[in-house]
Amino acid sequence: MLKGKKILLGITGSIAAYKSANIVRLLVTNGAEVKVVMTPLSKEFIGPLSLATLSKNPILVDFFNPENGSWNSHVDLGIWADAYLIAPATANTIGKMANGIADNLLLTSYLSARCPVFVAPAMDLDMYLHPANQKNIEILKSYGNFIIEPQSGELASGLIGKGRMEEPEAILKVLIEFFEKKKTLKNKKVLITAGPTQEKIDSVRYISNYSSGKMGYAIAEECANRGAEVLLISGPVNIQTKNKNIQIINIVSADEMFDIVMQNSKSAEIMIFAAAVADYKATNKSDNKIKREQNNIAINLEANKDIAAEIGKLKSKNQISIGFALESEKEIENAQKKLEKKNFDFIVLNSIKDSGAGFNFDTNKISIINNNKEVLEFDLKTKDLVAKDIIDNLEKFIKSKS
Ligand code: PMT
Repeated sequence: MLKGKKILLGITGSIAAYKSANIVRLLVTNGAEVKVVMTPLSKEFIGPLSLATLSKNPILVDFFNPENGSWNSHVDLGIWADAYLIAPATANTIGKMANGIADNLLLTSYLSARCPVFVAPAMDLDMYLHPANQKNIEILKSYGNFIIEPQSGELASGLIGKGRMEEPEAILKVLIEFFEKKKTLKNKKVLITAGPTQEKIDSVRYISNYSSGKMGYAIAEECANRGAEVLLISGPVNIQTKNKNIQIINIVSADEMFDIVMQNSKSAEIMIFAAAVADYKATNKSDNKIKREQNNIAINLEANKDIAAEIGKLKSKNQISIGFALESEKEIENAQKKLEKKNFDFIVLNSIKDSGAGFNFDTNKISIINNNKEVLEFDLKTKDLVAKDIIDNLEKFIKSKS
Protein backbone atom coordinates (compact mmCIF):
# COMPACT_ATOMS: atom_id res chain seq x y z
CA MET A 1 0.00 0.00 0.00
CA LEU A 2 1.00 3.62 -0.50
CA LYS A 3 -1.06 5.08 2.35
CA GLY A 4 -0.05 8.68 3.03
CA LYS A 5 2.66 8.69 0.35
CA LYS A 6 2.88 11.80 -1.79
CA ILE A 7 3.52 10.90 -5.42
CA LEU A 8 4.34 13.44 -8.09
CA LEU A 9 3.49 11.99 -11.51
CA GLY A 10 5.25 13.55 -14.52
CA ILE A 11 3.66 12.93 -17.93
CA THR A 12 5.49 13.60 -21.20
CA GLY A 13 4.36 13.63 -24.83
CA SER A 14 4.07 9.96 -25.73
CA ILE A 15 1.12 7.91 -26.94
CA ALA A 16 1.58 5.89 -23.71
CA ALA A 17 0.27 8.97 -21.86
CA TYR A 18 -3.23 7.49 -22.24
CA LYS A 19 -2.15 4.92 -19.61
CA SER A 20 -1.34 7.70 -17.13
CA ALA A 21 -5.01 7.99 -16.17
CA ASN A 22 -4.87 4.39 -14.99
CA ILE A 23 -1.61 5.06 -13.11
CA VAL A 24 -3.26 7.96 -11.25
CA ARG A 25 -6.32 5.82 -10.47
CA LEU A 26 -4.17 2.96 -9.11
CA LEU A 27 -2.04 5.32 -7.01
CA VAL A 28 -5.09 6.99 -5.50
CA THR A 29 -6.94 3.73 -4.78
CA ASN A 30 -3.79 2.49 -3.04
CA GLY A 31 -3.86 5.43 -0.63
CA ALA A 32 -1.39 7.84 -2.28
CA GLU A 33 -1.87 11.57 -2.61
CA VAL A 34 -1.13 12.41 -6.25
CA LYS A 35 -0.15 15.62 -8.02
CA VAL A 36 0.38 15.59 -11.78
CA VAL A 37 2.83 17.72 -13.75
CA MET A 38 2.58 17.56 -17.55
CA THR A 39 4.78 18.77 -20.40
CA PRO A 40 2.85 21.04 -22.80
CA LEU A 41 2.97 18.38 -25.57
CA SER A 42 1.58 15.62 -23.37
CA LYS A 43 -1.76 17.50 -23.24
CA GLU A 44 -2.18 16.48 -26.91
CA PHE A 45 -2.26 12.83 -25.79
CA ILE A 46 -4.42 13.02 -22.66
CA GLY A 47 -6.68 15.71 -21.31
CA PRO A 48 -5.77 17.44 -18.03
CA LEU A 49 -9.44 17.35 -16.97
CA SER A 50 -9.44 13.54 -16.69
CA LEU A 51 -6.20 13.58 -14.71
CA ALA A 52 -7.36 16.41 -12.43
CA THR A 53 -10.60 14.54 -11.73
CA LEU A 54 -8.81 11.29 -10.93
CA SER A 55 -6.01 12.87 -8.87
CA LYS A 56 -8.36 15.36 -7.15
CA ASN A 57 -5.71 18.02 -7.70
CA PRO A 58 -5.24 20.70 -10.36
CA ILE A 59 -2.84 19.70 -13.15
CA LEU A 60 0.41 21.63 -13.34
CA VAL A 61 1.84 22.51 -16.74
CA ASP A 62 3.16 26.08 -16.78
CA PHE A 63 5.58 27.90 -14.51
CA PHE A 64 2.86 30.41 -13.66
CA ASN A 65 -0.78 31.13 -14.36
CA PRO A 66 -0.93 34.02 -16.90
CA GLU A 67 -4.46 34.93 -15.69
CA ASN A 68 -3.51 35.77 -12.11
CA GLY A 69 0.30 35.47 -12.00
CA SER A 70 0.23 32.68 -9.37
CA TRP A 71 3.45 30.70 -9.39
CA ASN A 72 3.73 26.89 -9.64
CA SER A 73 6.77 26.33 -7.49
CA HIS A 74 8.92 23.44 -8.73
CA VAL A 75 10.92 23.74 -5.51
CA ASP A 76 7.81 23.16 -3.39
CA LEU A 77 6.79 20.19 -5.59
CA GLY A 78 10.28 18.69 -5.31
CA ILE A 79 10.17 18.96 -1.52
CA TRP A 80 6.53 17.84 -1.24
CA ALA A 81 6.93 14.52 -3.06
CA ASP A 82 7.96 11.24 -1.41
CA ALA A 83 8.54 9.89 -4.92
CA TYR A 84 8.59 11.39 -8.42
CA LEU A 85 7.36 9.02 -11.12
CA ILE A 86 7.88 10.11 -14.72
CA ALA A 87 5.64 7.86 -16.81
CA PRO A 88 5.71 7.89 -19.75
CA ALA A 89 9.20 9.36 -20.19
CA THR A 90 10.10 10.19 -23.81
CA ALA A 91 13.64 10.07 -25.23
CA ASN A 92 13.49 13.87 -25.40
CA THR A 93 12.71 14.27 -21.67
CA ILE A 94 15.21 11.57 -20.66
CA GLY A 95 17.89 13.42 -22.67
CA LYS A 96 17.05 16.71 -20.98
CA MET A 97 17.01 15.13 -17.51
CA ALA A 98 20.42 13.58 -18.14
CA ASN A 99 21.83 16.94 -19.14
CA GLY A 100 20.23 19.29 -16.63
CA ILE A 101 18.01 21.07 -19.15
CA ALA A 102 15.11 22.76 -17.40
CA ASP A 103 12.76 24.23 -20.01
CA ASN A 104 9.44 23.08 -18.54
CA LEU A 105 7.88 22.55 -15.10
CA LEU A 106 8.31 18.76 -15.23
CA LEU A 107 12.07 19.21 -15.71
CA THR A 108 12.57 21.98 -13.14
CA SER A 109 10.69 19.77 -10.65
CA TYR A 110 13.07 16.92 -11.54
CA LEU A 111 16.10 19.07 -10.79
CA SER A 112 14.54 20.21 -7.50
CA ALA A 113 13.34 16.78 -6.36
CA ARG A 114 14.88 15.51 -3.14
CA CYS A 115 12.92 12.27 -3.31
CA PRO A 116 13.62 9.06 -5.25
CA VAL A 117 12.83 9.39 -8.96
CA PHE A 118 11.32 6.57 -11.06
CA VAL A 119 11.46 6.79 -14.85
CA ALA A 120 9.31 4.64 -17.15
CA PRO A 121 10.59 5.12 -20.72
CA ALA A 122 8.19 4.86 -23.66
CA MET A 123 9.39 5.19 -27.26
CA ASP A 124 9.93 3.39 -30.52
CA LEU A 125 12.40 0.48 -30.48
CA ASP A 126 15.12 2.20 -32.55
CA MET A 127 14.91 5.35 -30.44
CA TYR A 128 15.12 3.22 -27.32
CA LEU A 129 18.19 1.33 -28.52
CA HIS A 130 19.98 4.36 -29.96
CA PRO A 131 23.35 4.79 -28.18
CA ALA A 132 22.48 8.41 -27.32
CA ASN A 133 19.32 7.30 -25.51
CA GLN A 134 21.06 4.33 -23.85
CA LYS A 135 23.82 6.67 -22.66
CA ASN A 136 21.23 9.08 -21.21
CA ILE A 137 19.51 6.22 -19.38
CA GLU A 138 22.86 5.17 -17.91
CA ILE A 139 23.42 8.78 -16.77
CA LEU A 140 20.04 8.79 -15.01
CA LYS A 141 20.96 5.52 -13.28
CA SER A 142 24.23 7.10 -12.15
CA TYR A 143 22.16 9.91 -10.55
CA GLY A 144 20.41 7.23 -8.49
CA ASN A 145 17.17 7.33 -10.53
CA PHE A 146 15.26 4.06 -10.89
CA ILE A 147 14.52 3.01 -14.47
CA ILE A 148 11.36 0.95 -14.94
CA GLU A 149 12.36 -1.06 -18.01
CA PRO A 150 10.01 -0.84 -20.99
CA GLN A 151 8.48 -4.05 -22.34
CA SER A 152 8.69 -5.66 -25.78
CA GLY A 153 5.61 -5.81 -27.95
CA GLU A 154 3.76 -4.01 -30.69
CA LEU A 155 4.61 -0.31 -30.71
CA ALA A 156 2.55 2.67 -31.92
CA SER A 157 4.64 2.68 -35.12
CA GLY A 158 3.48 -0.87 -35.92
CA LEU A 159 7.00 -2.17 -35.33
CA ILE A 160 7.56 -4.90 -32.77
CA GLY A 161 10.31 -4.58 -30.19
CA LYS A 162 11.34 -3.05 -26.85
CA GLY A 163 9.93 0.37 -26.02
CA ARG A 164 6.37 -0.11 -24.68
CA MET A 165 5.96 1.61 -21.33
CA GLU A 166 5.57 -0.89 -18.51
CA GLU A 167 1.92 -1.54 -17.59
CA PRO A 168 0.42 0.66 -14.83
CA GLU A 169 -0.11 -2.33 -12.47
CA ALA A 170 3.59 -3.26 -12.74
CA ILE A 171 4.65 0.38 -12.20
CA LEU A 172 2.49 0.50 -9.08
CA LYS A 173 4.13 -2.71 -7.82
CA VAL A 174 7.61 -1.14 -8.21
CA LEU A 175 6.56 1.81 -6.03
CA ILE A 176 4.88 -0.35 -3.38
CA GLU A 177 7.92 -2.65 -3.16
CA PHE A 178 10.22 0.34 -2.89
CA PHE A 179 8.34 1.84 0.07
CA GLU A 180 7.91 -1.52 1.83
CA LYS A 181 11.60 -2.34 1.48
CA LYS A 182 12.44 1.01 3.05
CA LYS A 183 10.72 0.05 6.33
CA THR A 184 14.00 -1.32 7.58
CA LEU A 185 13.54 0.03 11.12
CA LYS A 186 9.94 -1.16 11.41
CA ASN A 187 8.71 -1.03 15.06
CA LYS A 188 12.19 -0.20 16.40
CA LYS A 189 12.03 2.25 19.29
CA VAL A 190 14.42 5.15 18.74
CA LEU A 191 15.11 7.95 21.23
CA ILE A 192 16.66 11.10 19.78
CA THR A 193 17.83 14.30 21.47
CA ALA A 194 17.87 17.48 19.37
CA GLY A 195 18.31 21.22 19.57
CA PRO A 196 19.92 23.38 22.23
CA THR A 197 19.23 23.55 25.93
CA GLN A 198 18.69 26.85 27.72
CA GLU A 199 20.14 27.37 31.18
CA LYS A 200 18.43 30.06 33.18
CA ILE A 201 20.46 32.92 34.71
CA ASP A 202 17.53 34.99 35.96
CA SER A 203 13.88 35.40 35.09
CA VAL A 204 14.66 36.92 31.64
CA ARG A 205 18.09 35.60 30.61
CA TYR A 206 19.69 32.28 29.79
CA ILE A 207 22.88 30.61 28.51
CA SER A 208 22.47 28.61 25.31
CA ASN A 209 24.02 27.90 21.90
CA TYR A 210 23.17 28.24 18.21
CA SER A 211 21.69 24.78 17.62
CA SER A 212 18.57 24.98 15.45
CA GLY A 213 17.55 21.33 15.89
CA LYS A 214 17.68 20.77 12.09
CA MET A 215 20.14 17.86 12.31
CA GLY A 216 18.28 16.00 15.07
CA TYR A 217 14.89 16.55 13.44
CA ALA A 218 16.19 15.29 10.06
CA ILE A 219 17.38 12.12 11.80
CA ALA A 220 14.00 11.73 13.51
CA GLU A 221 12.19 12.02 10.14
CA GLU A 222 14.56 9.52 8.50
CA CYS A 223 14.09 6.95 11.28
CA ALA A 224 10.30 7.41 11.22
CA ASN A 225 10.26 7.13 7.41
CA ARG A 226 12.01 3.78 7.80
CA GLY A 227 9.25 2.59 10.13
CA ALA A 228 10.73 3.37 13.58
CA GLU A 229 8.71 4.66 16.53
CA VAL A 230 10.58 7.81 17.42
CA LEU A 231 10.67 9.70 20.70
CA LEU A 232 12.22 13.11 20.02
CA ILE A 233 13.38 14.97 23.11
CA SER A 234 13.81 18.49 21.88
CA GLY A 235 15.17 21.74 23.20
CA PRO A 236 13.50 25.02 22.15
CA VAL A 237 13.49 25.09 18.32
CA ASN A 238 11.22 26.27 15.58
CA ILE A 239 10.58 23.14 13.48
CA GLN A 240 7.43 21.13 12.83
CA THR A 241 7.72 17.36 12.42
CA LYS A 242 6.11 15.72 9.36
CA ASN A 243 5.92 12.02 10.22
CA LYS A 244 3.15 10.87 12.57
CA ASN A 245 5.46 8.26 14.12
CA ILE A 246 7.44 10.97 15.88
CA GLN A 247 6.39 11.76 19.43
CA ILE A 248 7.92 14.96 20.82
CA ILE A 249 8.70 15.88 24.39
CA ASN A 250 9.79 19.50 24.67
CA ILE A 251 12.30 20.43 27.33
CA VAL A 252 14.21 23.61 28.12
CA SER A 253 17.20 22.82 30.33
CA ALA A 254 19.83 20.07 30.36
CA ASP A 255 18.43 18.82 33.69
CA GLU A 256 15.00 18.39 32.10
CA MET A 257 16.53 16.62 29.09
CA PHE A 258 18.45 14.34 31.46
CA ASP A 259 15.29 13.39 33.38
CA ILE A 260 13.24 12.65 30.25
CA VAL A 261 16.04 10.61 28.66
CA MET A 262 16.44 8.57 31.86
CA GLN A 263 12.69 7.92 32.13
CA ASN A 264 12.54 6.64 28.55
CA SER A 265 15.92 5.03 27.96
CA LYS A 266 15.01 1.51 29.14
CA SER A 267 12.41 1.04 26.40
CA ALA A 268 14.61 2.50 23.63
CA GLU A 269 16.56 0.11 21.41
CA ILE A 270 18.49 2.91 19.70
CA MET A 271 19.50 6.27 21.19
CA ILE A 272 20.89 9.12 19.10
CA PHE A 273 22.33 12.17 20.84
CA ALA A 274 22.21 15.05 18.36
CA ALA A 275 21.39 17.77 20.91
CA ALA A 276 23.85 20.51 21.74
CA VAL A 277 23.44 20.24 25.51
CA ALA A 278 24.81 23.24 27.41
CA ASP A 279 27.83 21.99 29.31
CA TYR A 280 27.28 24.42 32.19
CA LYS A 281 24.44 25.97 34.15
CA ALA A 282 24.41 28.91 36.59
CA THR A 283 24.70 27.94 40.24
CA ASN A 284 23.37 31.21 41.56
CA LYS A 285 20.36 31.82 39.32
CA SER A 286 18.05 34.59 40.36
CA ASP A 287 14.25 34.32 40.40
CA ASN A 288 14.04 38.04 39.61
CA LYS A 289 15.63 40.04 36.82
CA ILE A 290 19.21 40.91 37.82
CA LYS A 291 19.46 44.71 38.02
CA ARG A 292 22.19 46.65 36.19
CA GLU A 293 23.64 48.19 39.33
CA GLN A 294 27.29 47.17 39.11
CA ASN A 295 29.77 47.33 36.22
CA ASN A 296 30.90 43.76 36.74
CA ILE A 297 29.02 40.77 38.00
CA ALA A 298 30.11 37.13 38.11
CA ILE A 299 27.99 34.17 37.24
CA ASN A 300 29.19 30.92 38.76
CA LEU A 301 28.78 27.96 36.50
CA GLU A 302 28.61 24.28 37.35
CA ALA A 303 28.78 21.39 34.92
CA ASN A 304 25.54 19.86 33.72
CA LYS A 305 25.11 16.10 33.88
CA ASP A 306 26.47 14.37 30.80
CA ILE A 307 23.38 12.60 29.48
CA ALA A 308 25.08 10.52 26.78
CA ALA A 309 27.88 9.45 29.15
CA GLU A 310 25.34 8.36 31.76
CA ILE A 311 23.51 6.28 29.14
CA GLY A 312 26.88 4.85 28.09
CA LYS A 313 27.25 3.42 31.62
CA LEU A 314 23.72 2.05 31.81
CA LYS A 315 23.08 0.70 28.34
CA SER A 316 22.45 -3.01 27.86
CA LYS A 317 24.00 -5.27 25.20
CA ASN A 318 20.85 -4.94 23.08
CA GLN A 319 20.90 -1.16 23.08
CA ILE A 320 22.74 1.04 20.61
CA SER A 321 23.87 4.59 21.30
CA ILE A 322 25.11 7.05 18.71
CA GLY A 323 26.75 10.33 19.58
CA PHE A 324 27.76 13.53 17.88
CA ALA A 325 30.94 15.53 18.33
CA LEU A 326 31.07 19.19 17.38
CA GLU A 327 34.73 20.06 17.19
CA SER A 328 36.93 22.98 16.21
CA GLU A 329 40.41 21.43 16.50
CA LYS A 330 42.06 17.96 16.56
CA GLU A 331 38.67 16.81 15.33
CA ILE A 332 39.21 13.06 14.83
CA GLU A 333 41.26 12.70 18.02
CA ASN A 334 38.66 14.52 20.16
CA ALA A 335 35.73 12.68 18.59
CA GLN A 336 37.52 9.37 19.18
CA LYS A 337 37.92 10.26 22.88
CA LYS A 338 34.17 11.04 23.17
CA LEU A 339 33.31 7.77 21.41
CA GLU A 340 35.23 5.84 24.06
CA LYS A 341 34.35 7.96 27.10
CA LYS A 342 30.60 7.92 26.37
CA ASN A 343 30.58 4.28 25.19
CA PHE A 344 28.96 5.14 21.85
CA ASP A 345 28.64 2.48 19.15
CA PHE A 346 29.68 5.12 16.65
CA ILE A 347 30.07 8.87 16.63
CA VAL A 348 29.22 11.51 14.02
CA LEU A 349 31.82 14.24 13.81
CA ASN A 350 31.07 17.70 12.45
CA SER A 351 33.60 20.49 12.52
CA ILE A 352 32.76 24.18 12.78
CA LYS A 353 35.83 24.76 10.57
CA ASP A 354 34.01 23.29 7.55
CA SER A 355 31.91 25.95 5.85
CA GLY A 356 28.24 24.98 5.70
CA ALA A 357 28.66 22.48 8.55
CA GLY A 358 27.39 22.43 12.14
CA PHE A 359 24.94 24.81 13.80
CA ASN A 360 21.91 26.18 11.98
CA PHE A 361 22.96 25.51 8.36
CA ASP A 362 20.61 23.43 6.18
CA THR A 363 23.72 21.44 5.24
CA ASN A 364 26.33 19.50 7.16
CA LYS A 365 29.63 17.78 6.47
CA ILE A 366 30.27 14.76 8.63
CA SER A 367 32.69 11.94 9.29
CA ILE A 368 31.48 8.79 11.00
CA ILE A 369 33.92 7.09 13.35
CA ASN A 370 32.97 3.49 14.02
CA ASN A 371 34.01 1.66 17.18
CA ASN A 372 36.63 -0.29 15.19
CA LYS A 373 38.34 3.09 14.51
CA GLU A 374 37.19 3.09 10.86
CA VAL A 375 36.65 6.69 9.70
CA LEU A 376 34.12 7.32 6.91
CA GLU A 377 34.15 10.77 5.34
CA PHE A 378 31.15 12.32 3.59
CA ASP A 379 30.70 15.36 1.34
CA LEU A 380 28.77 18.49 2.31
CA LYS A 381 25.07 17.59 1.88
CA THR A 382 21.65 18.75 3.02
CA LYS A 383 20.87 17.61 6.57
CA ASP A 384 18.15 15.29 5.14
CA LEU A 385 20.78 13.43 3.11
CA VAL A 386 23.26 13.46 6.00
CA ALA A 387 20.56 11.81 8.12
CA LYS A 388 20.22 9.06 5.48
CA ASP A 389 24.00 8.41 5.60
CA ILE A 390 23.90 8.19 9.41
CA ILE A 391 20.92 5.80 9.43
CA ASP A 392 22.46 3.68 6.63
CA ASN A 393 25.53 3.33 8.88
CA LEU A 394 23.25 2.42 11.80
CA GLU A 395 21.60 -0.32 9.71
CA LYS A 396 25.01 -1.70 8.73
CA PHE A 397 25.96 -1.73 12.42
CA ILE A 398 22.74 -3.57 13.36
CA LYS A 399 23.45 -6.19 10.65
CA SER A 400 27.06 -6.63 11.84
CA LYS A 401 25.78 -7.33 15.39
CA SER A 402 23.29 -10.01 14.37
O1 PMT B 1 20.88 21.66 15.58
P1 PMT B 1 21.63 22.10 14.32
O2 PMT B 1 21.64 23.59 14.15
O3 PMT B 1 21.15 21.36 13.10
O4 PMT B 1 23.18 21.70 14.52
C1 PMT B 1 23.54 20.36 14.59
C2 PMT B 1 24.58 20.13 15.70
C3 PMT B 1 25.85 20.87 15.35
C4 PMT B 1 24.04 20.61 17.05
C5 PMT B 1 24.79 18.57 15.74
O5 PMT B 1 25.25 18.14 14.48
C6 PMT B 1 25.82 18.21 16.80
O6 PMT B 1 27.02 18.17 16.56
N1 PMT B 1 25.34 17.91 18.05
C7 PMT B 1 26.18 17.66 19.21
C8 PMT B 1 26.78 18.95 19.68
C9 PMT B 1 27.55 18.80 20.96
O7 PMT B 1 27.12 19.27 21.96
O8 PMT B 1 28.61 18.06 20.85
P2 PMT B 1 29.60 17.72 22.13
O9 PMT B 1 30.85 17.35 21.46
O10 PMT B 1 29.61 18.84 23.08
O11 PMT B 1 28.88 16.48 22.83
C10 PMT B 1 29.21 15.13 22.53
C11 PMT B 1 27.98 14.27 22.63
O12 PMT B 1 27.51 14.18 23.99
C12 PMT B 1 26.81 14.72 21.82
O13 PMT B 1 26.18 13.57 21.30
C13 PMT B 1 25.91 15.43 22.84
O14 PMT B 1 24.52 15.39 22.45
C14 PMT B 1 26.16 14.63 24.07
N2 PMT B 1 26.05 15.39 25.34
C15 PMT B 1 26.90 16.43 25.59
C16 PMT B 1 26.82 17.08 26.79
C17 PMT B 1 25.86 16.70 27.75
N3 PMT B 1 25.76 17.31 28.91
N4 PMT B 1 25.03 15.69 27.47
C18 PMT B 1 25.10 15.03 26.28
O15 PMT B 1 24.31 14.10 26.02
